[in-house]
Formats: sequence, C-alpha cells, structure tokens
Amino acid sequence: MMVRERHERTAFVSDVRRTHDAHRHWHNDALKVHYEATGDPMTSVLITGGAGFIGSNLADSLLADGYDVHIVDNLSTGSVTKIPTGASFHEVDIRDAAGLNEIAGTIAPATIFHLAAQADVRKAIENPGFDADVNVIGTLNVLEAAHACGARVVFSSTGGAAYGEYPGLAIPTPEESEPRPMSHYGMSKMAGEGYCGLYHRLYGLDVVVLRLGNVYGPRQDPHGEAGVVAIFCARLLEGIAPTVFGDGLQTRDYVYVGDVVAAFRAAQTKGVGQTINIGWGQEISVLDLLDGLGATVQPVFAPARAGELQRSALANARANDILGWSPEMPLAHGLRRTYASIAVTHANPSARPPGFLDVLGN
Ligand SMILES: NC(=O)c1ccc[n+]([C@@H]2O[C@H](COP(=O)([O-])OP(=O)(O)OC[C@H]3O[C@@H](n4cnc5c(N)ncnc54)[C@H](O)[C@@H]3O)[C@@H](O)[C@H]2O)c1
Repeated sequence: MMVRERHERTAFVSDVRRTHDAHRHWHNDALKVHYEATGDPMTSVLITGGAGFIGSNLADSLLADGYDVHIVDNLSTGSVTKIPTGASFHEVDIRDAAGLNEIAGTIAPATIFHLAAQADVRKAIENPGFDADVNVIGTLNVLEAAHACGARVVFSSTGGAAYGEYPGLAIPTPEESEPRPMSHYGMSKMAGEGYCGLYHRLYGLDVVVLRLGNVYGPRQDPHGEAGVVAIFCARLLEGIAPTVFGDGLQTRDYVYVGDVVAAFRAAQTKGVGQTINIGWGQEISVLDLLDGLGATVQPVFAPARAGELQRSALANARANDILGWSPEMPLAHGLRRTYASIAVTHANPSARPPGFLDVLGN
C-alpha cells in the first residue's frame, strides 16, 4: 500500500471514530468511492425503529447534517411514509439476529440508535412474551451486532414506566432512584438497559441509555393507543370531544420531539456508560394539555385505566451536566406545532407527515 493511501485510510478511520477492525469500513463500496472522490468520510449511522415517530425525526436531523442514514424497521407501528427519501431502508425485524448482523457488518455504522420496540403498555400486559421478545431479545441482538462491528449504541429507554410509582419516590425523579416498573413494558426496557450495562462492562462497548419522558410533537401518530397529544389534536381538528381517562389530573413529563432528537445527537459523542433522563422535570396534567391546545370542546370523562401512573416527571440535571442538554421548546409552542403538523396530514393523508424540522413558527 502506498504511504499516501495508508495515510488516507488512517484518516478516514479516525474520522469516523471507529475502534474495531478498520477493514470493515471498506465493506461499503459506496462509502469508499464517496470518500476517495471527495475526502469526506460521510459517517454512516443505523436507526432501529427509524420508520416511527421519534426515529424518523432523528433520521431527518442526521441527514440534514450529511450522515449516511440507514433504517432498520419491521413497519409494525411505523410507516414507509415517515422514512425520509435520503435514508436507506432495510425491512428487518430486530428479532432476526442474522439479518441485523449482516446489515451492521456491511454498513459499519459509527452509531446505532436503538429505538425499535414494542412500546405499547397495554399490548405488553396482554402478551408479555411478545413484549420481552422484541424489547429484550431484540435489544440483545442489537448489542451483539454493535459489538461485532464496534458501533456505539444509544438506547431509547423510558423514564416513567421504568421508575413506576411508590411511596417516597422523588418527583421529578432523579436517575439514582430505584426503578420499580409497574408494567411489563417498563420491565422489558429495564432488562434492555441491564444488557446495555453488561456490554459496556464486559466488552467496553460505548453505550448510552436515554430514559425519555412522554415525547410529543410533529409526526406523532394520532391513530395509535399512545400519544395523547396527537390523539387530542386529531379529535379537536375533527370537532370531536376528546376522551379523558380518570379525572384528568394525572401528570406526565411532556418533552418535544425536537428536544429529544437533540439529546440523541448529543449522545453520539457524550455520555458513554451513563443512564440519563430526558425530560422537562415538570408535571403536566391531561387537563393542562387540553388547556394548552385551546380546546373549546368539553372532554368526555371515562374510567381510569388500570396500571396507569398518577404522577410522573423526570429530573434533568444529569442530562445538563453530561450531555450539555436541556429542553428548549416551551409546551405551548410545541403543542401548536404538533397541532399544525397533524392538520397538514389531515388535509393530505398520503403525503409524508411533517417532522419537527418542517414545522416552524410559534
Ligand atoms: N414516544 C414516547 O413518548 C416514548 C417515551 C419513552 C420511550 N420511548 C421509546 O422510544 C422509542 C421510539 O418510540 P416512538 O414513540 O417513536 O414509537 P413508534 O412506534 O413510532 O416507533 C417504533 C418503531 O419501531 C418499529 N418496530 C417495532 N418492533 C420492531 C421490530 N421487532 N423490529 C424492527 N422494528 C420494530 C416500529 O415499526 C416503529 O417504526 C421506543 O423504543 C419507545 O419505547 C418512547
């Protein structure tokens, strides 16, 4: 190998911050050709669950910064309309270890953002085995693939469902608090976190765990079971009274998807070995949300749903210290943007739903 070639190759490898098997970078001919032609390393990243709400917003942000973005998704709750045209889509289930390994080995991502999950609390209670299969075995498969290709993993975990609710639990809840999940979903996410810790200790894998609050914002699906903000927006657009379960005084930590994407982006270079809450640290009730959306229709009250927490909010000092992150989008503005995005999709259901980068203004 010529000295110049060797130098370029070394620079490329160091540019993409890879630590394992430098030759793997060259498996991807497109990247190699691009690098040789332009000198730009064009780092590749992989997003599991990139056809979903948060993952597709993250994909938009990474594409805007010039990353070579790959998405793995089985489209169980995600949709092809959410996938940006600039991303490469691999329709693969994270329970398929061989399929995942092949993709990760070929593209050699610098970072795997692991967002694919069974994220429905009620489905988890109905079918705990399926929930564990996706959230525990699927996460294990992602970690194995990352270990094989030396990628950093940023794991999308949960705050409220992980901590649960018990006497003496501080609210807003700091990361030092003992997690006592009250649902199979919270439990399977905790098991995923446990494996993240293991791969960090055992193999020195770069892993960051983000425990998210209740994420809301543009491109959230108003048709699913989750996402009360999107559901309320759709109801209000149609002039239908929103349903409030329980007394509406139950609280959550609502955090805007653009802020959550910023936290994922910060975790590309910071926070290795850490578990970090991503939330506002403020309790917002369901009735507060309706007020914030300017609802003039009276809600219909229905019985409280079993297993729901009464109060939840996440302390965010660690996110500030370690990631240099703090939330920026005030709730009122975020709610207006969410409503605006759902109005666009309502008017044109076959178009790509606008994401946080598309919905501007107040
Ligand atoms: N939205 C929130 O408020 C919130 C809060 C805490 C944690 N999280 C976590 O953030 C992540 C993303 O959540 P979201 O709100 O964008 O949900 P989402 O349902 O919109 O996205 C999840 C994506 O994962 C895909 N997926 C599911 N099972 C899969 C499998 N077996 N193989 C491959 N792909 C699969 C789905 O098709 C979907 O595109 C999840 O891990 C969720 O647990 C979300």
